[in-house]
Amino acid sequence: MEFDKVIRERCAIRRFTNEQVEKEKLDKILEAGNLAPTAKNNQPQRIYVVQSEEGLNKIDEISKCRYHAPTVLIICINLDEVYQGEHGNTADIDASIVATHMMLEATNQGVDNIWIDLFDHIKIKEVFNLPDNIKPVALMPLGYRDNIGPSPLHNKRKDLEEIVIYI
Ligand SMILES: Cc1cc2nc3c(=O)[nH]c(=O)nc-3n(C[C@H](O)[C@H](O)[C@H](O)COP(=O)(O)O)c2cc1C
Repeated sequence: MEFDKVIRERCAIRRFTNEQVEKEKLDKILEAGNLAPTAKNNQPQRIYVVQSEEGLNKIDEISKCRYHAPTVLIICINLDEVYQGEHGNTADIDASIVATHMMLEATNQGVDNIWIDLFDHIKIKEVFNLPDNIKPVALMPLGYRDNIGPSPLHNKRKDLEEIVIYI
């Protein structure tokens, strides 16, 4: 897909069918996360792929935003590897770039997706038994939309003049 089309087609999807994402497409999505830039190229990202019934039930325990997706990525940062900048570490920045790469590649592959921040950031570590040095930053349900389109919020964009300031 043309890049211009990808960024225009991407939208948050909040109802998925149970059709699983093909392995080939999932691999491309994960590869896009591997190609993302990170501070000092430290590549601190760790992506947990949740597809088992048990794992998906655990996601439902810590978030109401799975929207029945059959695959959920837990996008994490290894705090032992992340760049320690002057103003704090770049964990959230690195994870966000990685997540954005994967979100756009998902759209490119025709795989619907959504970024989820609304989850219990503490309990997730407990239910998935994540090591202390792993910081979960975002969830990303992946799958195929179930008779639904973009939400009304999707097309509500501010004018460029409102968000761009030439100084
Ligand atoms: C950082 C971030 C956190 C988000 N968290 C949630 C969430 O917890 N639950 C949800 O339903 N949508 C969540 N979203 C989706 C946004 O609501 C959605 O991207 C936004 O309304 C714009 O719509 P669009 O993605 O269709 O363009 C999140 C998006 C971002 C970028």
